[in-house]
Amino acid sequence: MSRPAGEEEIPLARPVLGAAEEEAVRDVLRSGQLSLGPRVPAFEQAFASRLGVAHACAVSSGTAGLHLALRAVGVSDGDEVVTSPFSFVASANAAIYERARPVFADIDPRTLNLDPQAAAAAISERTTAIMPVHIFGYPADLPAFEALDVPIVEDACEALGAVHGDGVAVGGRGHPAVFGFYANKQLTTGEGGMVTTADAAIKARIDSERNQGRAPDMGWLDHDRLGFNYRLSDIASAIGLAQLERLDGMLAGRARAAASYREALADIEGLELPCEDSGGDRRGWFVFVVQLPRGRDRHATILALREHGVQSKPYLPAIHLMSLYRETYGHREGEFPVCEDVAARSIALPFFPELSEDQVERVATALRAVLQP
Ligand SMILES: Cc1ncc(COP(=O)(O)O)c(C=O)c1O
Repeated sequence: MSRPAGEEEIPLARPVLGAAEEEAVRDVLRSGQLSLGPRVPAFEQAFASRLGVAHACAVSSGTAGLHLALRAVGVSDGDEVVTSPFSFVASANAAIYERARPVFADIDPRTLNLDPQAAAAAISERTTAIMPVHIFGYPADLPAFEALDVPIVEDACEALGAVHGDGVAVGGRGHPAVFGFYANKQLTTGEGGMVTTADAAIKARIDSERNQGRAPDMGWLDHDRLGFNYRLSDIASAIGLAQLERLDGMLAGRARAAASYREALADIEGLELPCEDSGGDRRGWFVFVVQLPRGRDRHATILALREHGVQSKPYLPAIHLMSLYRETYGHREGEFPVCEDVAARSIALPFFPELSEDQVERVATALRAVLQP
């Protein structure tokens, strides 16, 4: 079976944008204040209040947020940052920006998050931060990392809407936690990010460093520290505010799509689905990533799905096996076996809030046809 003529290809991701976002952008354009205006603090305050945390700093991307958050906890030359090899490359790259070394530790095979015991074993006298990643929106085991007594920067880029077992929102524990607003995320501003923190000094430092190192009471003429242009514009912040208004609906749409997939894919032998919520932890659904049965050719599977009108992609490759990391740090296969096994078999399926039951059924039928011909 291949795609019936005229049937639209099912995309991997599709943001929910409508009249509210259009109106919000139009308002900014009419106001004439496109940057450094009132929408930035309004978006920050609404975001912080939604997560139950004291402060939030809007930035130009999740990557920019990770960079500034690592600087804010003191990571610098020659330091080590313990993190997950099963993440988007930006989380490890952020340490390299500060001439620190990302030190990887293996992941938990159920949650696919950094394993706290493996992370503990990777700590050295040079470790200045641990960066757990809430991968695919599943909460990392923060209580276990907190017990290690090393500064924490959370990569929460994929985890808006996730909640820890103790009822605290991911990003609400007070460590700098970084969210991303690229177009495939739970909330999008096109490009953008947000760092949440309980610490007023960290808020002040990030606000300054995202804006060329300028302190809030300084005019244009002086800068008292090195900074960057990592600002989020008022246009993006206005979109973010409109998206925040509809966030509950979008998260519910993703959760519904995930539940439909779980049911529709249950009978495919050897296919591993994302782990169920456990111990009170609640996933903030971001992607629906499945692990193919062992021995399957992933590339061929992706091409075959495409023939059926279904987009999919390998997600995520192991960071330590990327060329930059092999060549710079000498990483090789076999170092992090759980990560490598998962990274070799994972594919992301189409996933977005408005994914219909019919589309879920089409994906399931295609996957069944490809894996069980
Ligand atoms: C886990 C993770 N970390 C970091 C990032 C980087 O975010 P951005 O693309 O907004 O720079 C992303 C998103 O793309 C991500 O998924």
